[in-house]
Amino acid sequence: MSPFTVTRTLPADATAEALRADVAHGLTRSPKQLPPKWFYDARGSELFEQITELPEYYPTRAEREILEERAARIAAATGARTLVELGSGSSEKTRHLLRALPRLAAYVPVDVSESALTLAGRALLAEHPELAVHALVADFESGLVLPDTPGPRLVAFLGGTIGNLLPAERASFLGSVAGLLAPGDALLLGTDLVKDEATLVAAYDDAQGVTARFNKNVLTVIDRELGADFDPDDFEHVAVWDRRNEWIEMRLRARTELTAKIPALDLAVHFAAGEEMRTEVSAKFRPERVRAELGAAGFELREWWTDRAGRFALSLAVRG
Ligand code: SAH
Ligand code: AVI
Repeated sequence: MSPFTVTRTLPADATAEALRADVAHGLTRSPKQLPPKWFYDARGSELFEQITELPEYYPTRAEREILEERAARIAAATGARTLVELGSGSSEKTRHLLRALPRLAAYVPVDVSESALTLAGRALLAEHPELAVHALVADFESGLVLPDTPGPRLVAFLGGTIGNLLPAERASFLGSVAGLLAPGDALLLGTDLVKDEATLVAAYDDAQGVTARFNKNVLTVIDRELGADFDPDDFEHVAVWDRRNEWIEMRLRARTELTAKIPALDLAVHFAAGEEMRTEVSAKFRPERVRAELGAAGFELREWWTDRAGRFALSLAVRG
């Protein structure tokens, strides 16, 4: 039986402290905002998986199409012995890579969602009993330390999750990923592409309301973890295309004037009727921007692949 370990790199109270700090900071500024990583408790991770199957949400299907087609090429180009995946979630699309990498010794999925890591790890080991899986419950934005596994390393960051970081956060994140790698190691990066507004807005405001439930889940997390009294029904899900920044913004809009109490922070937060709080940005990219941001962090873009409909891109870059 091969090892499957789940390591929490930050103690649970550090995570709780980070949530307190983000909520205290984000809900006392104007406009109010919260970082998207707090969507992903067990229910949030489950809702995200439902999103990936919605007819309107094309990124997962588009990226899977590229991975199915290019996995053998990625394997040949990288010769990876360790695959690190940031924000791995269910690792569902990663199966195509795992099957194609003949020399792989270790898989290191990294996620803030322990439930997603545990479910994914079990499923993967059933298919790859020989693989060492070192799951890390960690924030990929802060002080990630990787286990000592054989190189070359391939870091995969799929799904377009890089778009959930703001430009300055992306620059610092990509710099820290480069710092984890040796020259010649590789980064496989999924990015959703700029396209018509109607397609984008529909992907983030689906007819069945699953994305609305995902968005409101952050309030449920704050209620449970900080003893707050947000009622998710008091808020409306909003998804708008910001043409200037080329990102989708998800917001929660207060239906009426209200005050929410957050006892763990000794805070009462007032919302005017119609006031909006930003809960996520999801940036959409053009090839020049991906190349430039990778280059600024010390990566050289080697391959750029899109799905046949040109909706989503996968980049293979090498650390110089
Ligand atoms: N890669 C998968 C999942 C994408 S959903 C796919 O392409 O389908 C985004 C994932 O990133 C979630 O599993 C979430 O828990 C994780 N995540 C979000 N912010 C994170 C952070 N700061 N650190 C680690 N994981 C994070
Ligand atoms: C994880 N991330 C890439 C998703 C996205 O598309 O930005 C999260 C999501 N938000 C709403 N729907 C899906």
